[in-house]
Amino acid sequence: MKYIKGVHRHGSETFLIVSNNQQRLVSDSIIKTSTTKNGINSIISEYKGIEWYNHLSKNKIVCNFDIKTKTYYKIEIQLNKGFFNINTNTSYQKIKKYLDLTIQHYIEIWHDYKNKLYSPFHGDLSLVGNVMFNGIEEVLFVDWEQFDNSFKMPTGLDIMMIIMENVWYETLKANQISKDVLKHAKNSIENLIKAKLLSPLLRKKPAQSSLNFINDNIEIWRGQHFKLPVLKMPKKYIIEIDNVVTN
Ligand SMILES: Nc1ncnc2c1ncn2[C@@H]1O[C@H](COP(=O)(O)OP(=O)(O)OP(=O)(O)O)[C@@H](O)[C@H]1O
Ligand SMILES: [Mg+2]
Repeated sequence: MKYIKGVHRHGSETFLIVSNNQQRLVSDSIIKTSTTKNGINSIISEYKGIEWYNHLSKNKIVCNFDIKTKTYYKIEIQLNKGFFNINTNTSYQKIKKYLDLTIQHYIEIWHDYKNKLYSPFHGDLSLVGNVMFNGIEEVLFVDWEQFDNSFKMPTGLDIMMIIMENVWYETLKANQISKDVLKHAKNSIENLIKAKLLSPLLRKKPAQSSLNFINDNIEIWRGQHFKLPVLKMPKKYIIEIDNVVTN
């Protein structure tokens, strides 16, 4: 059975269809289709991103790219067995482990970009849906619709975004950044620096300069930048993160 799971999600201009296995009632694949210029470009980016990732990741994503006509594109992505999303309500305490695994996976995948100013960019590396885990602590990056391979985004920006996003979620609950969360964010950024995967362009004020790069390249999100949690983060928290990294 196939069912439509989403239409034009966050202004994506794509349909998301889920295909279920008749016998086991579990999803086997997802299908994304579009008939608009933006949507078609997202599908092309997704394909290119998956292709790039598959060259580097142990767990490959199987996908089938169909150009039906000039105005209708379709991609079918087989779901990797055993991978799960973490619950969106998970506390930062529990999320720490998954953030560490995510950073470790980024370090492995992006190893050719050590000390490089710019790198390929996932653009939507969020623990809410697009980073998946399995029972043996392997990581899978999915949803490559915002992939940018034009080397205009600084190395490590994907990780800065995921760190800031999770700090922000925490501030929504606690109305402040707790010491513990700030310490973990600092350690995470330092791990990225140690791995030589935080671009020199982001070294000085990592949080603020990350935001500057996002704002200067907003077209990457094809009108969907409003969905980015980091853009909602109050300035005081940005300053707090940058101060703790500098000290
Ligand atoms: N290769 C994969 N293996 C396992 N699960 C996957 C894979 N690709 C996607 N998924 C699952 O399908 C969900 C939707 O896929 P994806 O994130 O690519 O679409 P989306 O356009 O972001 O839709 P949504 O708005 O629902 O997140 C993911 O959050 C994930 O749970
Ligand atoms: Mg997604």
